[in-house]
Amino acid sequence: MFKYHGQRIFRYHQYGLTLGFLSLFLPFGVSGLISGYFLRDWLILDIVATTLIVVIGICLVLFVVSRNIKRRGVFAQVKQKQMLARMILSNKYYEIKKRQDSGKSREKIIMPKVFYRYGKKKVITEITMPADGGRFHDRFLKMGKTFEEMYVADLIETSREIGYVTYRLLCDVVGNRYSLQQVTTEGTQINLMKGTSWNWDKAPHMLISGGTGGGKTYFLFSLIYKLMQIGIIDVCDPKQADLADLGDIPAFKGHVFTTNDFIARCLKNAVKDMEQRYAYMKSLPNYVSGKNYSYYEMPPHFVIVDEWAAFMSTLNYSESDEILKDVKQLILKARQAGVFLIIATQRADAENFGGGIRDNMMFKVTLGQLAPVGYDMMFGDENKNKAFFNKDIRGRGYKYDSSGVPSEFYAPLVPSDFQFMTEFRKIQPMKPFIMNSAEKKETDD
Ligand SMILES: Nc1ncnc2c1ncn2[C@@H]1O[C@H](COP(=O)(O)OP(=O)(O)OP(=O)(O)O)[C@@H](O)[C@H]1O
Ligand SMILES: [Mg+2]
Repeated sequence: MFKYHGQRIFRYHQYGLTLGFLSLFLPFGVSGLISGYFLRDWLILDIVATTLIVVIGICLVLFVVSRNIKRRGVFAQVKQKQMLARMILSNKYYEIKKRQDSGKSREKIIMPKVFYRYGKKKVITEITMPADGGRFHDRFLKMGKTFEEMYVADLIETSREIGYVTYRLLCDVVGNRYSLQQVTTEGTQINLMKGTSWNWDKAPHMLISGGTGGGKTYFLFSLIYKLMQIGIIDVCDPKQADLADLGDIPAFKGHVFTTNDFIARCLKNAVKDMEQRYAYMKSLPNYVSGKNYSYYEMPPHFVIVDEWAAFMSTLNYSESDEILKDVKQLILKARQAGVFLIIATQRADAENFGGGIRDNMMFKVTLGQLAPVGYDMMFGDENKNKAFFNKDIRGRGYKYDSSGVPSEFYAPLVPSDFQFMTEFRKIQPMKPFIMNSAEKKETDD
């Protein structure tokens, strides 16, 4: 059956932008010629008017084209097709047909059946290559990383059908970025970007990593700001830096921990809370095996720790052993009870996360610049072939919910006039969740 793959790429596509530029410039060029013709008796005026029209035309067309590319308009597609055609030609991924033309031997380039399609939401580009056993069969089946690098994009899907392979690429998603005010919570998820959310029931526990100034702490503040409206938040800041300021805010009374002892206690309390939640759920008359905390209308409890690596480096062997034991319990068992960890660190070295902890933090976010080894630590061997790029944009990185592939991520944009501390002061103190025993609950009813 016929399937539409998009527009076929031909040789002329290699001149796409030049042709586009010339067609937009045409009216200016014609006007220049006309003005030159009518004003030809006044030499100076003729030169000035014609030059002015041409220069204004060039500047205007350049401005329109570059702006259109930035906004992923039609010229962005023209540019991508041009790059595709040039890639095919410079790598000689074509066949040459020789033919005799009036006694002379001529060569004709036969382009492969490559198709280009601009997918929905303006961020998906689809490229279909022939996989028909031809000369370039093997190469065309391994184009994913090349396309990621060409378009600074994320390969989100490679699909096969008889004779073809199709690559789906997620290109610049900055247009999907939310400002902090647009972030919403909905059931067991927080919508962080258009089309991207963290569902803590499906991908429990979040690990954030990224270089200095990448935006980890700002992202944590944004999460705290939104999540405290639906759950209970404990905040640990071992460096006693930014998050520690929350300690002065009434809403966080008893929920901010800064010294090693108190952070250790906070994690122990989280384990205790998890155990109490399990006991409480079991004691309820409507207890159903397999249901989780949200079925019993219990709020989630988030434990947030910034600067994890710095914290671990200050602990002696037995202290870190104890901490990792608690963290492991939370990671492996706390999801159903509604206790979740959110850990931020500059580097996610395995030694700071005892066996299995890092891999079981199911939602991973990088922010800012990371060395290649940093991406390996976060996204593991299964994503070793993916191309990751650093861009100099604060709050920009990748997210991975342990299914599919990592893709570009922008943390909610915090407006420059937004003061977290002023806003936190306006929020009511978090209400502790009282676990009445089943008997008490029945008498209350
Ligand atoms: N989402 C954002 N919106 C607006 N500005 C941001 C955002 N993220 C980061 N910034 C800017 O970048 C600066 C550094 O961010 P932040 O302190 O969160 O980085 P960090 O990753 O925690 O760094 P460090 O590792 O040094 O603690 C902030 O002070 C802010 O000006
Ligand atoms: Mg920080």
